[in-house]
Amino acid sequence: MKNIALIGYMGAGKTTIGSVVASCTGLRFVDTDKYIVNRAHKSIKGIFEEDGESTFRIMENKLCRFLENRSGLIIATGGGIILNEDNMARLKKNSAVVYIKNDIETLYDRAKKTEARPLATDFEDFVRRYMDREPLYVKYADIVVDAEGKSVEDITMDILMICLYPGLKKKYFSS
Ligand code: S3P
Repeated sequence: MKNIALIGYMGAGKTTIGSVVASCTGLRFVDTDKYIVNRAHKSIKGIFEEDGESTFRIMENKLCRFLENRSGLIIATGGGIILNEDNMARLKKNSAVVYIKNDIETLYDRAKKTEARPLATDFEDFVRRYMDREPLYVKYADIVVDAEGKSVEDITMDILMICLYPGLKKKYFSS
């Protein structure tokens, strides 16, 4: 059985949505940020500050290599996973990739609330990064879910419906 991998910018709610999808389906949930934090015994902020972003990106890639042959997982990814083409080639091998799309203001409001996000400290920088990345989220997505204004339960239903009935995808759920 294929995995479902959630991609999207910081603050999209990938972790929350992924864990609800996992509990609804009984599938195992993997959060790439949490996995890396557990492995490194450091927070994301700690990794960025002490080892640098490039070390964090190497850890992300190692995890994608590990996940590429796994199946039946719900995977919530970090917002920068799409920056490395190799990550996405590996994830796409065995996952339906779902882009959780939100308005930039919503994303920033959520993302700035947590210390865990070293790349969400300045709004202008946050927007610039988003503009660079948005085409990549779209490019790699098999499915785009417009999550703006929707509850976690509704987004979960959208994801499950699309994964069960891929024919519905463009017509009803993409923006
Ligand atoms: C990042 C997003 C974060 C985390 C790290 C870098 C990014 O994950 O991986 O701070 O580059 O967008 P979330 O998308 O879960 O916030």
